[in-house]
Amino acid sequence: MDVLMRRDLIIDWVETAAQEIKTQMSNDLEVESKSNRKDLVTKLDKATETFFRKQINHYFPGEGILGEEGMGETVENLTGPVWIIDPIDGTANFVLQHNHFAIMIAFYEDGLGQIGVIYDVMADELFVGIKGQGVTWNGHTWQPPFTDKPLDQGLLAVNGSLLMANRWQVQELIDQAMGLRIYGSAGLEFLAVAKGELLAYISPNLKPWDIAAGAVICEELGIKLSQFDGSAIDYLAANPIILAYPKSHQKIRHHYDSNK
Ligand code: IPD
Ligand code: CA
Ligand code: CA
Ligand code: CA
Repeated sequence: MDVLMRRDLIIDWVETAAQEIKTQMSNDLEVESKSNRKDLVTKLDKATETFFRKQINHYFPGEGILGEEGMGETVENLTGPVWIIDPIDGTANFVLQHNHFAIMIAFYEDGLGQIGVIYDVMADELFVGIKGQGVTWNGHTWQPPFTDKPLDQGLLAVNGSLLMANRWQVQELIDQAMGLRIYGSAGLEFLAVAKGELLAYISPNLKPWDIAAGAVICEELGIKLSQFDGSAIDYLAANPIILAYPKSHQKIRHHYDSNK
């Protein structure tokens, strides 16, 4: 099946899942904690991932699936076709705000991102990136309002734990920007960079499903994504990431190298 047919199926699944989430959101979410009291999962995170897994197994039997809630088989290498799913990104926002969360699905082949989809559920904003074919926002071609800007001319998002610990003097870096924003959803922070609302997003411990869809979208727009040390993302591990427009990326990388 070609990439556009895959894209159309993904959009259909995401829209169905989003409608179900909206319908069920005011019912008991059956919130549980995973690794610590702030690491939440709800029955809708699980049901949404199960729904995507069923669709993938139906249309693409045998293809690898890497999903946050890990119900079912998972992948140990990225050879061949692999789907990377975050059924609800920003679960704490979902539980506590009923807002500011996203559905994310990516399709990779031999470790290379082919399709990335992020849906801001409550804002009804659907971003789709296809490798080599650009990005769409709700079906329209998307380009950020500029191609590059230095860090002192815009806003920056930094993960809260990195900020509070002030690792590698990150507060000094933040001071160089026009201001700090923290959204609580990696997917929405990737989208805010893709929209040009943020010049950069820095986070110390993102999992493959936090990154995979946004990487396809942002890389299509010429936005730089790397680990803190400049190396490429490892889609089988947790990564410390810098996502930024080129000049800002360079500035952040330099600050990291000088202060780590
Ligand atoms: C989390 C969110 C959060 C980020 C965490 C992620 P989840 O994803 O994206 O903003 O700081 O690192 O784990 O667990 O809500 O899907
Ligand atoms: Ca989670
Ligand atoms: Ca999640
Ligand atoms: Ca996530």
